[in-house]
Amino acid sequence: MRDVAVIGIGVTKFGELWDKSFRQLTAEAGAKALLDSGVSGGDIDAMYIGSMSSGRFVGQEHIGALVADASGFSHLHIPATRVEGACASGGLAVRQGYLSIASGMNDVVVVGGIEKMNDVSGEAATETLATAADQEWESFFGVTFPGLYALMARRHMYEYGTTKKQLAEIAVKNHANGALNPNAQYQKPIKLETALNATIVADPLGLFDCSPVTDGAASIVLCAADKAKKFTDKAIKIIGSGQGSDTISLHGRDHICTLEATVYAAKKAYKQANVKPSDIDLAEVHDCFTIAEIIAIEDLGFVKKGEGGKAIENKITTLDGEIPINTSGGLKAKGHPVGATGVAQIVEIVEQLRGTADKRQVKNAKIGLAHNVGGSGATAVVHILEAM
Ligand code: COA
Repeated sequence: MRDVAVIGIGVTKFGELWDKSFRQLTAEAGAKALLDSGVSGGDIDAMYIGSMSSGRFVGQEHIGALVADASGFSHLHIPATRVEGACASGGLAVRQGYLSIASGMNDVVVVGGIEKMNDVSGEAATETLATAADQEWESFFGVTFPGLYALMARRHMYEYGTTKKQLAEIAVKNHANGALNPNAQYQKPIKLETALNATIVADPLGLFDCSPVTDGAASIVLCAADKAKKFTDKAIKIIGSGQGSDTISLHGRDHICTLEATVYAAKKAYKQANVKPSDIDLAEVHDCFTIAEIIAIEDLGFVKKGEGGKAIENKITTLDGEIPINTSGGLKAKGHPVGATGVAQIVEIVEQLRGTADKRQVKNAKIGLAHNVGGSGATAVVHILEAM
């Protein structure tokens, strides 16, 4: 297998982007990544695009070719493939691009992630997101994603004494980080009381325990590490890539406070990278709900199972803590355009490892981890990156 590096990154502003179309967003993120990388159209061997549900959100399928076309590459006939794995679509697209270079098939690959979720009503967005759950056994009976994660939160509270205040502290931390990110949907710090007293969405989760409904796109350029110098001197190597899956329904699992797909994906990525959780300097984890961040830092091995709540209380995961988590603001504050999220996480890790994260910069960041989850944990992808 060949080493692979990220040589370019691009992201749009995240939020309610009424004035930009789906294709404009993908072209904007892609153009920024290409400009950043020094690569031009003729250098690109393939494109992989993550999107969860463009058909339902904007009435457009066939988006591999669409993104290549919108980027001005139709005349180059670059193979462009859409990748779907619910909210992990972006992370899966990164992994497909990574594998295609590692295998020797391609040298330069553009990976994109896109979702435009605000063109439909809130109800339609909730229904569309619920297609990532088990239709026969969950969604049909009215369960929503806030509902599924509320079940996990209740169980975590019961098993390990996790509190609503600890969940709220995750929201406060991620909104504080989002306030330092010019591309975040929410750039305003919030108070603990605001999070604690917010409208309940699915008990015990309130408004500030949820990621929002977001429009946005992200893109990265991947290159065979030994050819990266030809384009740039700021390449960041991908040293581990892991993917795992699990039952699509929550009730099919032995326990619901651990995402076994994450544990599996992380184990593979750590082994390939030859690093331990304690070697990771920062991580972007899939905090679609505050409880998901607690479960993620446990499953990734940063803290013991059941101690995720205490970690936030003890400030271990803040920007200047032992293991800063979601420096971008996470899905909670940066926003969660589902198909774009996994790619945007890599963009943040690359910024941090390049040392260009400005006010969010983690000191001496050398190794970073990105963790992207589909649905309630049926798919998980973990990437580990290192400054070259
Ligand atoms: N966090 C913080 N603020 C939020 C927010 C969130 N998650 N969602 C909405 N808001 C804010 C809006 O900006 C708006 O503020 P304003 O009045 O100052 O403009 C206000 O709350 C009302 O927004 P609205 O869009 O009407 O909210 P809503 O009630 O329709 O939606 C949720 C709120 C939580 C239901 C929605 O964000 C949601 O469904 N989130 C979960 C998405 C999801 O499941 N993703 C997949 C995860 S697996």
